[in-house]
Formats: sequence, C-alpha cells, structure tokens
Amino acid sequence: MQTEVVAGAAAVGRAVALLRAGEVVALPTETVYGLAADALSPAAVARIFAVKERPKHDPLIVHLPTAAAVEEIATVSSEIERRLIEDFWPGPLTLLLTKHEHIPLLVTAGRETIAVRCSAHPVFQQVVRDFGRPLAAPSANRFGRISPTCAPHVVEELGGRIPLIVDGGPTDHGIESTIVRVIGRTIEILRPGALAEEALEPYGVVQRASRQGAVIAPGQLASHYSPRTKLIILEENTLFDPTDHSEQRIGLLQLQPTTEGGNALPSACVRYLSSKGDLREAASNLFGFLRELDGCGLDLIVARLVPEQGIGLAINDRLRRAARPSS
Ligand code: TXA
Ligand code: MG
Repeated sequence: MQTEVVAGAAAVGRAVALLRAGEVVALPTETVYGLAADALSPAAVARIFAVKERPKHDPLIVHLPTAAAVEEIATVSSEIERRLIEDFWPGPLTLLLTKHEHIPLLVTAGRETIAVRCSAHPVFQQVVRDFGRPLAAPSANRFGRISPTCAPHVVEELGGRIPLIVDGGPTDHGIESTIVRVIGRTIEILRPGALAEEALEPYGVVQRASRQGAVIAPGQLASHYSPRTKLIILEENTLFDPTDHSEQRIGLLQLQPTTEGGNALPSACVRYLSSKGDLREAASNLFGFLRELDGCGLDLIVARLVPEQGIGLAINDRLRRAARPSS
C-alpha cells in the first residue's frame, strides 16, 4: 500500500473521507502521533490491531470530538471526574470510565471500563469534529516499539501499511497522556504522562498504581517503547564508566552534560535531552533521541534517569520500560 504524507487543510478532508470508509489514518495529537479509526466500528478498530500487530487483549484509548461528547460513550459518575474533565480537557489526560453498552468490546478488550480523552491538537480536533464520531487511537507505532513524535517516525513504523499520515509537525509534549482512574477520593495514576502528577493534587488523593496494580492497564506490563539496541538505565546520580564496556559501541542518553571525568564517547553517540535541564524539553526529545541512537549501529544504549518530578516521572517510566527485556 502507498502511504501518503499530507499536511494542511487538504489532509483533514482526506483523513475524514478515509475514516468514513472504515480506514485507519495516522494523526498528530499534542502528545504523540495516533493511529485512528472509527471507535464505533468493530471492523475499523480491528484494522488498528492488525496494522500495529497489537495483541487483542490490549485496549485502546477513545478520543472525543468535544468534552461534552463523553456522555455518549461513558458514564461520568463522580464530582472529581467531572472537575478533571472540566479543567483538563482538551489536553493530555485520559480517564478510565464505565463504558456504555454500544461501544465495541474490541475497543476495551472486553472490559467494562473505557479509556477516554479529548485531544487539544488543532488538526486532530478538526478531523474528529468533522468526522463527528469518537476515534479509537493508540500511538502510531508497531506494538512494543518507540512512540512516534513526528510524521517521519510514523513513516518508519507504519509506512506501506496505512493509506495516510497527516503531518502536523513535531508533537508538543512528546510523551503520552497521563492515564488515571478515580476511586472514591483517590486519583490513581495508571500511566504517568504529559500531565504532571502535581497538577492533579488539588483534585483528590493522588496515588501511583503499584506494579501489580498495573494489571488494570495490560499494556503496562509488557516491555514497551523498545529500541532494537539493548538498553540499560543508570540511576540519576550514578557514574558511568565507559571503560567497563570497552569492547562495545555505546550510546549515552542523559539530561545534561555532566562533569564526571568526560564520558569518552564520540559525540555522535551522546544525546542530551535538554542542555538547560528543562524536563518538558527533555520529554519532547526523548523518543526522537532514542530512535536516533537506535539507528546508530550501537551495541548498547546507556540511559540515565532524570529527576523524579513533574514530567520527569513519565520520562523515567518510559526509560524503565524501554530497558525491560521483551516478554
Ligand atoms: O497520549 C496518548 O495517550 C496517545 C495518543 C495517541 O492519544 N495514545 C496512547 O495509546 O498512548 P496507547 O494505546 O499507545 O496506550 C494506551 C494505554 C495502553 O497501555 C492500554 O493498555 C491502556 O492505555 N488502556 C486503554 N484502555 C484501557 C482500559 N479500558 N483499561 C485499562 N487500560 C487501558
Ligand atoms: Mg503506545
């Protein structure tokens, strides 16, 4: 299949026409690029799974045309949920809610809960509003691989498998939405993401899901965000001595240059996520830099964790998952 990469107004019309025909298209969101299809059509949703090679037990996030449209697919049952929706939609927050009957079971992998969000990206918004129905959209990468943050990444992942990639330039946050569920007064974070934990604190008791709790979000269990090159992580303040790995070609990924006795690696193999130490900038560079290092023909990528604050939590979460061997 020929994959078209199109930008601008023409792209929106083309995307809507393809979605109406039951096709899948890649669209920019403010977090990462998504692979979208009509959430109410089981056949269209099935194409998402096929194109991504995603196991059918891993449910999809559904994206709404407007925040108010949530009532058409799920039940908002608590005041906390209502306030989160009012204050953070559109934006990078995904809520787990009880789904309505008519949502295909394939979307939620047989669950009664559905992950819902409303994207703030102007191009995504235009497409989903013109289409007039909710869109199921996981990240536009093959299952287990690094999420795409610009159109060329999507070409690399899905070129030849989908008819259209709408090019909206590099995404704003560069890391996926924060997924939460509300239980009583507790806001449980199932996946840290672009919306920082701290922003949720005024709304309830914020808790991180334990690793075991992650069974709630099955995609969280598997190894994920993986480069093909072996990747190991270093705690934030551990020293890295490349002579320990002298026989190997090594790449280094870390927040900023450090003073620790020079890292003795060719600069082509070193990436600083943000030379001024800005975690938002670091998040937006993370997946692109991982992808670049993965393309450098290295034996090993060493990634150093960043400070555990704000969006740093999400960066470290992705690095830890990328380092996990595939299961
Ligand atoms: O920013 C984002 O959230 C991006 C953009 C495209 O919107 N989407 C995204 O989707 O990251 P995906 O499919 O790559 O990750 C969604 C995660 C998966 O780990 C999935 O298991 C979990 O959300 N999930 C989806 N529906 C769920 C449900 N009903 N219950 C529990 N976990 C769910
Ligand atoms: Mg994904």
